[in-house]
This record gives sequence, structure tokens and C-alpha cells, in this order.
Amino acid sequence: MSSFPFFADVAMAPRDPILGLNDAFQADTHSHKINLSIGVYCDDNGKVPVLSCVRQAIAALMENPSPRTYLPQDGMPAYKQAVQELLLGKDHEVIAAKRGATIQSLGGTGGLKIGADFLRWFSPNAKVWVSAPTWDNHKAIFGDAGLSVVNYPYYDNVTGGYDINAMLGALKTAQKGDVIVLHACCHNPTGVDPSNEDWVRIVDLIERQNLVPFLDIAYQGFGFGLAEDSFAVRQFAARKMPVFIASSFSKSFSLYGERVGALTVLTGSSDDAARVQSQIKRIIRANYSNPPTFGAAIVAKVLTDPALRALWEKELGDMRGRIQKMRVALHRRLSQLNPSTNYDYIVNQKGMFSYSGLTAAQVKKIRETQSIYVVESGRICVAGLNDKNVETFADAMVAVQKAGA
Ligand code: LMR
Repeated sequence: MSSFPFFADVAMAPRDPILGLNDAFQADTHSHKINLSIGVYCDDNGKVPVLSCVRQAIAALMENPSPRTYLPQDGMPAYKQAVQELLLGKDHEVIAAKRGATIQSLGGTGGLKIGADFLRWFSPNAKVWVSAPTWDNHKAIFGDAGLSVVNYPYYDNVTGGYDINAMLGALKTAQKGDVIVLHACCHNPTGVDPSNEDWVRIVDLIERQNLVPFLDIAYQGFGFGLAEDSFAVRQFAARKMPVFIASSFSKSFSLYGERVGALTVLTGSSDDAARVQSQIKRIIRANYSNPPTFGAAIVAKVLTDPALRALWEKELGDMRGRIQKMRVALHRRLSQLNPSTNYDYIVNQKGMFSYSGLTAAQVKKIRETQSIYVVESGRICVAGLNDKNVETFADAMVAVQKAGA
């Protein structure tokens, strides 16, 4: 078959740094391969769990299946309510005043994308500031929406922590209306979060400079707990300022493929919220009309049924605890093998990810020689470690670090 001239100028797109690597892992036939690339929680047997609360919710929903008709453009009402309550706390003033506009989105990515499209319409000249480093897709989402994306300093290579002074210094130069993308908890890719005191400083500065925070919260419950991980969200919500929040249940419900997320916009009044909601619905209509039913039905059922809710919180706590256990095991082994290097950052970081300190060359080496898959930046998904592979990974890490590759 000869190529069509019509496609002659279509170049091959680069592989996605995370999803592309995950595809390569799936295709790898090595029997002891280890996947620390994508942010997916696996249990101690290396399997993505189906949570018991999810199984029970599905069984209950299947007893009396509802027709699969179109949902409203902005999603399922019970789900949207549950999203707000989880982010803000049940009795929050924003909810009572109906000044939050929430839509059900296609995962957290969908929430970011719809929010980015909204900003493109209503604030096209705003610069979007993202942390250096950030989740790779942030730049793609806001950039493809037509907005200009710049970095603010965040991670400190020397300390393995964050550089609050550099961050605040850069944000002071942002112009009124610029959008500041923040990881509300469990920073992706570094696992390094601001302390609560520093969050208050960040919120103060953003409010004072009339900037617009856009919080990405995809890992609520994987840091310290559901309410604790919402600290930044609630600090912003307590101020009178516009706030955008993209949230996700992919990880916390282990429902990756169902694409259950949300965009919530905190506005000044119920009147603001109604107008914002109407515009977002219009944007959704022009993208995909309306969201799918099943994932949101599961999440709404679990969040609104007291017994299922308690079971979910327990299962989420178990996932969080297992990740922490893996951090401790990894830290222990690394420290034994290489006592002259301080690996404390592994146990201090939060959430699914750890910035391992592996260089791109070291990452390549362990992939090619041992089929261990790590994102090129050195980010590892700690939730992909288990009792059977943690030492293999630690051994490989120390070996390449000692070899100075
Ligand atoms: C990740 O960062 O690995 C996850 O959020 C999955 C993704 O879509 O990149």
C-alpha cells in the first residue's frame, strides 16, 4: 500500500512519557519485570485491586439497574454533591450558599481540560504557572487549550524538599489574573508537599496578588487522610476568591478506567455559580455532550451509603498504609546497601510517587538490563512496589548509583 499524500505531513508523535512507558512495560516479555512507571496502585500481589466497597456498590446497583439514558451535561446530581462534600467538608458554607459549580468530568484530566477550556474563553491572556517539575500532562492540557504555560520553581534538588522562597518569589512576579496550578496533596512527580504553614503563605500571596489558583487533587486520601489532604483546598475555599479544583476518583476508588473525576469552580455567589455552570455545560456539549453513567453511580453510591463509605475509608487507609510500608522497606534496603547516601526523602515524601534521584541514564540502564520501568525524570510509583520486588528494585537502584551511570 502506498501512503496517502494527505497524511504525508503527519509526523510520528513522541511517546507519552508516562502512558507510553506503561505500554512498553505491557509489551515486555521479561518474567520478572517491574512497573514503577504509571500512577496506579497495585496490591502486594502486584494486582490492581477491585475494592470491596466497589464490588458491593456494583452488586447493589445491579439489583435494580437504572436505564442508561443520557446524564445531564454536567453529570449526576448526587455525584456532584458528594464531590463537593468530600473536597470541602459536609457543612461548608460554599455548599450551603450554592456558590460552587461542580461538573462530573472524564477523570481528573477531564476536569483540568474543561477548566482550561473555560479559562481560554474567559481569561485568554492569563499565563498558567505550573511547578517545576510538574505532571507532564499539565503543560499539554493548558498549552493545547491555547494558554501560555510557564514554570515556577518548586523542587529543590539539593535538599530533596521544596524551595518555598523561590516559589513565592516567582509567584510575586505573576500578573493579576494569572492561573497558578498547584498539587493540593501528594505532589506528582516529586511526592513533596508544602507544610500547612507554607500552604497558608501560598494562599495569602495568591489572594493578595489577585491570582487564580487551579488545584489538582488526584490523590486525596493517599497522603495523611481525606480531610488532611484537603487542607489546601479548604484554605482557598475560606477566602473570597475564584478557585478551580480538578479532582479524581481514579486512584482513591481504584476505578481508573471508569474515568470518574470532577471540576469544581468556587465563585462568589449562587448567581456566579449558575452562569459559570451554564458556560461549562456549553463547553462539555461541544466536547463530548455528557459524561458516562457507571463510574459516577458507583462512587455516588459508596459516598452516600454510610456502611459502604466506612468500608471505602478503611480500604483507602489500607492502600495508604501499604504504600508507607513500601517506603519504609525501600528506605531500609537502600540505606543498608549504600549507608553513605541519605535516603530519608523516600520516607518523607507523600502519596504514590517518589522522586528517586535516578538520572535519565540510570533509568534507561535498569530498564534495558532488568526490565524495571521508571519515568525518565526518576519518578517511581511506590504503589507498584511489593514485598517480592522491593529489594530487587533497591538493589538495581544502588547498583546503578554506585556505578555512576
Ligand atoms: C500518572 O501520573 O502516572 C497518572 O496520573 C496517570 C497519568 O495519566 O499520567
